[in-house]
Amino acid sequence: MIRKPGGYGAFDFDDTPIPDPGDREVQVAVRACGINFADISVRMGLYAAARGMYPLCPGLEFSGEVRKTGRKAGDVAPGDRVFGAVRFGGCATALNCPAEHIWPLPDAWDFNRGAAFAVAYITAFHALYHVGHCRPGETVLVHSAAGGVGTALLHLLRIAGNLSVGVVGASGKVAAAEKAGAAWVIDKSREPLWQRAEAIAPDGFDLILDANGLSTLRESYRHLKPGGRLLVYGFASMFSRAGRKRPVKLVWDYLRTPRFNPFRMTGDNKTVSGFNLIYLFENTDRFRSAMDALLTWDAEGSLPPVPITPFPFKKVADAHRYMASGKSVGKLVLEV
Ligand SMILES: NC(=O)c1ccc[n+]([C@@H]2O[C@H](COP(=O)([O-])OP(=O)(O)OC[C@H]3O[C@@H](n4cnc5c(N)ncnc54)[C@H](OP(=O)(O)O)[C@@H]3O)[C@@H](O)[C@H]2O)c1
Repeated sequence: MIRKPGGYGAFDFDDTPIPDPGDREVQVAVRACGINFADISVRMGLYAAARGMYPLCPGLEFSGEVRKTGRKAGDVAPGDRVFGAVRFGGCATALNCPAEHIWPLPDAWDFNRGAAFAVAYITAFHALYHVGHCRPGETVLVHSAAGGVGTALLHLLRIAGNLSVGVVGASGKVAAAEKAGAAWVIDKSREPLWQRAEAIAPDGFDLILDANGLSTLRESYRHLKPGGRLLVYGFASMFSRAGRKRPVKLVWDYLRTPRFNPFRMTGDNKTVSGFNLIYLFENTDRFRSAMDALLTWDAEGSLPPVPITPFPFKKVADAHRYMASGKSVGKLVLEV
């Protein structure tokens, strides 16, 4: 639980038993919980969708075994291995989840893989196909390409036959982005990002996926080709890598974040789109159709496992610290 937003000491453990699941819910004995960048923002009290909800159990995804089912929960039974996504409450040893946000865990997956799948892959799918209208053959630049969502994006781009350029912030991440399918990897800690991007795609990019915010947004827009689309889905560069809230930096970065001019965008033939799936959570058709496609690709062997760093459940603060450092590759999970 996060009783009050704060630093790494904000976590508290609550032993109160949970109630029985509602009619359309499934109760899961959780075996692993995925950690996402959004959890950091939730812990600090900066996540708009969590405002007014504290004390709050954080966590957006999990895997485990079904313990009990509601009367109208559909085709699940106690003992089934499942994974799912929740609108908070995923960092728990047991939870009640709406049945439509749960999927059977594929036989070949362990619980860690199940806990690390839903958020990154549904985000990547939604970004590329529901918002970005990505077409085969397009050249796509992916920022933070070795992270959770970044790796999922590269996997999906490889399946679709797109040329992807992955950008990473540390040399230790280059191999992971290459392995995930990037045709080129730009290590911005060692080489000038945009100079290299121009050498790779002199005419610009069809699609750029940017969850950095201020640090790259302006140049991402500039490096689109006519007809190109910039997808904004996060603002990670506003956060301190030490994991502390720095109000002056936040306000200063907010004020300097580019505002895109519709007159200019029309003349440039460029699109800027934003999305946050947390506000589309009730749109279950969208989630389920994305997951159908993803699980089909997985069954065909097209989705390799993402690198996962596990932490013991009670070391949640260490997992947050590692994610905030910007050094993590792939996904982080808490093992129950
Ligand atoms: N809108 C949505 O629906 C949605 C859904 C899921 C995730 N997201 C967003 O997508 C992004 C990736 O999420 P994720 O969970 O997969 O995280 P992640 O990519 O595994 O980790 C975050 C990465 O952001 C980069 N970064 C840039 N500035 C940073 C800073 N100041 N502090 C720490 N890291 C910084 C780092 O990579 P490099 O240094 O290599 O760039 C870091 O590894 C996040 O911004 C998240 O909020 C949005």
